[in-house]
Amino acid sequence: MKKSILYLSAICILVACSTMKTAELSQQDVDKVKPLYPNYTLAELKEGKTLYSEKCTLCHSLKNPTSESSKKWPHIVAEMTNMANEKTLTISPKQEDLIIKYLVTMTTTSK
Ligand code: HEC
Repeated sequence: MKKSILYLSAICILVACSTMKTAELSQQDVDKVKPLYPNYTLAELKEGKTLYSEKCTLCHSLKNPTSESSKKWPHIVAEMTNMANEKTLTISPKQEDLIIKYLVTMTTTSK
């Protein structure tokens, strides 16, 4: 009985941590790229992050969003999308766009 409570609280802590990570994204991040993406929303930023962790882990581990410059990301993501689509791991143009915006936002806000 005691053990199961322990497990349960461990799971709760894990869940709390993972939700905290997505909560790190804020309206402030969106505001920083307003000049680039005038109609960008926080929901789109979060969706981009989710897509990034889903789609960009199909062939290799997740790269650090700040490992490349905001200028380079669109080219890299386009290249990766082509490679994925060749292997029928489909990344749609809409998803590609959200991933690029997420990565560009992360590189822009980290400076
Ligand atoms: C179809 C498999 C595949 C998918 C899906 C994929 N990658 Fe890659 N990625 C590779 C391979 C293979 C390399 C290393 C060889 C190369 O660079 O061509 C690589 C290398 C990279 C590099 C290192 C820099 C570079 O240009 O070599 C980055 C950054 C990167 N991927 C980001 C991403 C991102 C972001 C996504 C999601 C949009 C993604 N990858 C999805 C296969 C993939």
